[in-house]
Amino acid sequence: MYKILRFFLFLMDPEEAHYATLKSLKILVKIPILGWLVKQFYTVKNKKLEKQFFGLQFRNPVGLAAGLDKNAEYIEALSCLGFGFIEVGTVTPLPQEGNPKPRLFRVKQDRAIINRMGFNNAGMEVVRNNILEYRNKHPKSSLIIGVNIGKNKVTPNEIAKEDYIQCFNHLYDMADYFVVNVSSPNTPDLRALQEKEPLQDIIFSLQNQNKYKDKPKPILLKIAPDLSKEQLNDILEIVDSTNLSGIIATNTTISRDGITLYEDELNEIGNGGLSGEPLTDSATFVIEHLRNKNHEIPIIGVGGIMSAKNAKEKMQFGADLVQVYTGLIYEGPSLVKKINKLLKK
Ligand code: FNR
Repeated sequence: MYKILRFFLFLMDPEEAHYATLKSLKILVKIPILGWLVKQFYTVKNKKLEKQFFGLQFRNPVGLAAGLDKNAEYIEALSCLGFGFIEVGTVTPLPQEGNPKPRLFRVKQDRAIINRMGFNNAGMEVVRNNILEYRNKHPKSSLIIGVNIGKNKVTPNEIAKEDYIQCFNHLYDMADYFVVNVSSPNTPDLRALQEKEPLQDIIFSLQNQNKYKDKPKPILLKIAPDLSKEQLNDILEIVDSTNLSGIIATNTTISRDGITLYEDELNEIGNGGLSGEPLTDSATFVIEHLRNKNHEIPIIGVGGIMSAKNAKEKMQFGADLVQVYTGLIYEGPSLVKKINKLLKK
């Protein structure tokens, strides 16, 4: 069924197809019986799927990765697709348009996406209101909502931590957990913040805010798949010294390994982060390295989960929870159900 829909969606511009799908889903699930039916169809309920990490109870270990619902506009619709948790964002303090279009490209032959969206988002105020609306409407929902935070493009790296602090404080009571995103390749120089000193500074500052709250929130770090082993070891030191709750591995890659396009086709697409099948193994290597070095830290595995088998593999190499994005575009929402069905066995 999704394959037929995908045929038509893939005829559209990728960004237009993205919003058309989300908007249609939003309308569809508002139709009372239909919304209930969609939820029943995609939800896999089983005690074996329930997980507890960083003080949160996950109804199942399959989450939606950041970037698909940047403004928290579609939580209600997406919650019908069987996810245990949804990560919204990346959110910045001020709204920003992101990079000029086109900025999202399908590489169908390799089941991949290249994007240079550049943190297009409506800003923390809008995101706050959207999550609040969902929470007021569904006060008893067991869906975990993570908020992925970043810095505005115009904010220099030297004062980037102020942006992270603003987002953290403003969204504190809306988020079940926070993710510090310093690993997107699409904001100039952002990834320099993954270096030991600036990263430690940002996370120390956030934890400093966190400790004065009534109930400190879990803070996780999302990392790039392009880090060296030495850099990964530094990250693990930072995790210890700053008391981080977990790591999300990984974001998109700047590498083009595994892409079978001709060089001129690749040049035509230009810069951006690559996701989907070519990322599967490199993201898993990062998870494996982190897990071998640290047996305790919760790891959310993401990157090239295109099948239930890929998700299981990520968990075998050390992921505690998983997230999907590009797999949804190629396989449709039944991917979430398939993963949960395999994991409950
Ligand atoms: C992303 N991703 C992403 N990550 C993030 O932390 N903040 C963001 O705003 C975005 N935006 C975004 C847009 C688009 C179009 C894509 C395809 C991806 C990265 C995403 O969350 C995930 O880490 C990677 O895409 C790898 O997973 P998949 O897509 O291979 O399952």
